[in-house]
Amino acid sequence: MSQDPTRSPESLIRGDLKDFKSYEPILPLDALSERSGVPVDRIIKLDGNENPYGCSPRVPRALAGYAFYHIYPDPLHTELQGPLERYAGVDRRHIVAGSGSDEIIDLVLRMFLEPGDKVINCAPTFGMYPFSTAVCGGVTVTVPRDDAYAVDVAAVRAAIDGHTKVIFIASPNNPTGNTTPESALVDLLDTGAAVVVDEAYYEFSGRTFAHLVPRHANLIVLRSFSKWAGLGGLRAGYGIFPERIADLVRSIKIPYNVNIAAMIAVRESLADIDYLQANVRAIIAEREHLAAKLQKQGVLVPLPSAANFILCRVARGDAREIKQGLETRGIFIRYFDTPQLRDMVRISVGKPEHTDALIEALSPWEGGPDGR
Ligand SMILES: Cc1ncc(COP(=O)(O)O)c(C=O)c1O
Repeated sequence: MSQDPTRSPESLIRGDLKDFKSYEPILPLDALSERSGVPVDRIIKLDGNENPYGCSPRVPRALAGYAFYHIYPDPLHTELQGPLERYAGVDRRHIVAGSGSDEIIDLVLRMFLEPGDKVINCAPTFGMYPFSTAVCGGVTVTVPRDDAYAVDVAAVRAAIDGHTKVIFIASPNNPTGNTTPESALVDLLDTGAAVVVDEAYYEFSGRTFAHLVPRHANLIVLRSFSKWAGLGGLRAGYGIFPERIADLVRSIKIPYNVNIAAMIAVRESLADIDYLQANVRAIIAEREHLAAKLQKQGVLVPLPSAANFILCRVARGDAREIKQGLETRGIFIRYFDTPQLRDMVRISVGKPEHTDALIEALSPWEGGPDGR
């Protein structure tokens, strides 16, 4: 083998990753505090679809009492299998847990993609699909949703060719908040591509396709503990796969992908479902309350949502300016500068007092763009 000691390490890097555009994550609390000059305990964080009620109180108690952090975790997370299958209503042979559903997205793509294979992305949607596709050497084929942000099934079908491996459908979709009907899913399953339905926000919609997985060899459903169970910081999610695919996912994942703290947190969350579901109900009620208040105020026009956030069209003022204006008051929302989401902002549902603070902070725009 010929060797070249003068070769730079950079020249060894995969060509397609050299100018890689990284995923833009939301900022952590202390960075938001520094940026706005508002102390951490007064920040109103409505930009990450996080749970304002936090996690079950059983989680910190169990974490504080655990004595074996020096021992590696169980790679098959055996103790979670029973609670997960009862919660998801699907046999444990179909379920694999991960470090957030983000990890499962990556695992799915690593499993299916060879360089140049295609992944269909129904935009606007969650940014991790094109990100992980690119990291895995795949090509994202963007199929825009229609004017009501519904998946354009005919356009998806038309976009499929011999290199198409995966179709991602988030339901409810982030950031648009709408779900995809079963009839559309069935049409997509007929194509033979792997259809990944991302149900990170399932608990706020009550609509799931998990029960269909055992009957379809190409359906995968992703779930998260970040939203309904308030475990975003601990990273826990799971995938529901056809049995053979689940076996393969288990065999290609890194062994200790779910750490002990996340495992304890999931176990305790699933032992405290009533508490967590009461918080989910409070968030759903607050979603409707927030939507009604925004509608009445007229600065932001809310779109219907089946998730824990609301996408809004800016009716008065400018989206970027409103986002920046709210930031000076310590209120953070999400603003997207893309053609399909022009003049739109996404607001995560908080507690009632967060709604009141937001509405009050939006009041300078009530008189129109020049009303301040
Ligand atoms: C549609 C969707 N899927 C998955 C995720 C990631 O979830 P997790 O925290 O479980 O990785 C998010 C997070 O915002 C999301 O919006």
